[in-house]
Amino acid sequence: MITRLYKEFNKVFDSNDDIRVYFAPGRVNLIGEHTDYNGGHVFPCALTLGTYAAVKDRTDDKICFYSMTFADDGIIETGISDLHPSAADGWTNYPKGVIWAYEKRGMKLTHGMDILIYGNIPNGSGLSSSASLEVLTGLILKDTFGFESVSMVDIALIGQDAENNFNGCNCGIMDQFASAMGKKSHAIFLDTNTLNYEYAPVKLKDAQIIITNSNVKHSLVDSAYNDRRRDCENALKILQKTCGIRTLGDLSEEQFEDAKTALSDPVLYKRAKHAVYENQRTIRAKNALQNNDIPLFGKLMNDSHTSLRDDYEVSCTEVDYLVELAWKLPQVLGSRITGGGFGGCTVSIVETAAAEIFQENLRKAYQEKFGLNAEFYLADIDNGARRLL
Ligand code: GLA
Repeated sequence: MITRLYKEFNKVFDSNDDIRVYFAPGRVNLIGEHTDYNGGHVFPCALTLGTYAAVKDRTDDKICFYSMTFADDGIIETGISDLHPSAADGWTNYPKGVIWAYEKRGMKLTHGMDILIYGNIPNGSGLSSSASLEVLTGLILKDTFGFESVSMVDIALIGQDAENNFNGCNCGIMDQFASAMGKKSHAIFLDTNTLNYEYAPVKLKDAQIIITNSNVKHSLVDSAYNDRRRDCENALKILQKTCGIRTLGDLSEEQFEDAKTALSDPVLYKRAKHAVYENQRTIRAKNALQNNDIPLFGKLMNDSHTSLRDDYEVSCTEVDYLVELAWKLPQVLGSRITGGGFGGCTVSIVETAAAEIFQENLRKAYQEKFGLNAEFYLADIDNGARRLL
């Protein structure tokens, strides 16, 4: 990969002397979906799939971006003091947002850079290609300009700020945190209320994680995501009248059941119910994994899917079909939609010996039903963002 980046950099920018190479991973979330902006827990892992950058300093104040994935866009140029979101700048709004978020914190760039990007996370798959690009940029800036006081957790927060306030998606912290803080062979059990976290080894005995890409991305994803977040905020306001809570993540299932009559709007009720129950499921799932109880872990994943489908309403027909096919196979311990939803990927725990059967079965049935090609990734859990060279 690195040789390829060197070659391509030389082709695009005429020289590859003194370039630095960085990587930031995508993530798969095992359980704890739509809990991160509700003060709940999440349980993601960083992947070996991710986004690479080759970077060279410039003496002027231009940033010249080029993506091997969007080669047709050519070089997209930005001045370091000319940072505003613009539809014409396409994917570069993500790194630009990160530069903007650094500047907002008083950390200014003193010169420009040539930046070549290559990513192998399928766009729109729900595996956080944009968060990985944000974390990657955060790391490049820290390293290039010697922003020593910026920690990897700060890089995650800066990436989230860029996504929320520059790019207009009100996401939580999970994706950027997983990309910045991932650990090989471990999932991150993160309390999004406090940002306290713990690494849990992902040991699945004779099973493995398989990600299935539905290759479906429904439109209006960002606006539907922001709507869900607003529903939860409205439900919280109502519940706060009777319960002394800061977030929905503060409620146990019993407390929610006692307080729920205040939620007369059935939509708000369903959204809040998901947020509360999913958080408790995530805590149980982490304990199940630590106790080597993989069947219980799988069952909690299945329950998570049902709740995301029926109460949170962020699944779709194609993804539901993939999950239901997986549930029918005796060698599957658990399967659910992963990520923001409205398409994207499922995550399944499958007996290793049945990995092939699983893929064949889903590929064939999915193709027959929707005429679509499902893609599979055997999840390899890796470390968080880092400089490679
Ligand atoms: C997207 C967001 C995350 C999180 C998930 C749903 O990936 O970026 O912050 O809310 O959706 O769990």
